[in-house]
Amino acid sequence: MDKIKDDPYLMDHNYDGIQELDNPMPTWWLITFFVTIVFAGIYYFHYELSQITSSDIELKQELAEVEALRNAAQASEPKMEATDLNALVSDTNAIAAGKKQYDLRCAACHGPAGGGGIGPNLTDDWWIHGKGSIQDIHGIVANGVLDKGMPAWKEMMSASDVNHVSAYVVSLKGTNPANAKKAEGQKVE
Ligand code: HEC
Repeated sequence: MDKIKDDPYLMDHNYDGIQELDNPMPTWWLITFFVTIVFAGIYYFHYELSQITSSDIELKQELAEVEALRNAAQASEPKMEATDLNALVSDTNAIAAGKKQYDLRCAACHGPAGGGGIGPNLTDDWWIHGKGSIQDIHGIVANGVLDKGMPAWKEMMSASDVNHVSAYVVSLKGTNPANAKKAEGQKVE
């Protein structure tokens, strides 16, 4: 069969009456196509064949950065057991920092001056838990007495804030605020 019409794209051959068009892809498409082929070659060389970098190497670098940040954060967090609680009892800066925490978090239940309210009086010689040492107070403040309504502050305060507020509570001893709550617990001589 002859050409149906004189089309510049029509090719010379003909299969059972089906004629082939030679319709080239547009130039912009071809350029994009070849660029992707070249890019794939460069990419494969860069990430798979060369030792310049690879996903593995990048992952290791990023994990090392995370590890370094984590170590730095741990190093700056004061360790509770490393702090000498006894020394805080006479540390006026620690006590002042502890008062800020007390006013913010404790005064609502223990009274603005520690005389008690919902919670017991913290200024007298009577203690429900322990004997009023900074270690005893620290333990109660950190772990709370959940079934009696005293929160576990280590969940909500930094370790150093718990240390400081404990030192402040020790400093309240014997201050005798007005309208203090009656004694609870055992008298400690
Ligand atoms: C929601 C109320 C509430 C808040 C807020 C609260 N406490 Fe208490 N606290 C209590 C209660 C109630 C008790 C008594 C627990 C018991 O009867 O065993 C208590 C007990 C204590 C005791 C032990 C007293 C004793 O006689 O043995 C200490 C010390 C103490 N609180 C310190 C603090 C400090 C410091 C804060 C702030 C960081 C604080 N509390 C915040 C309610 C509270």
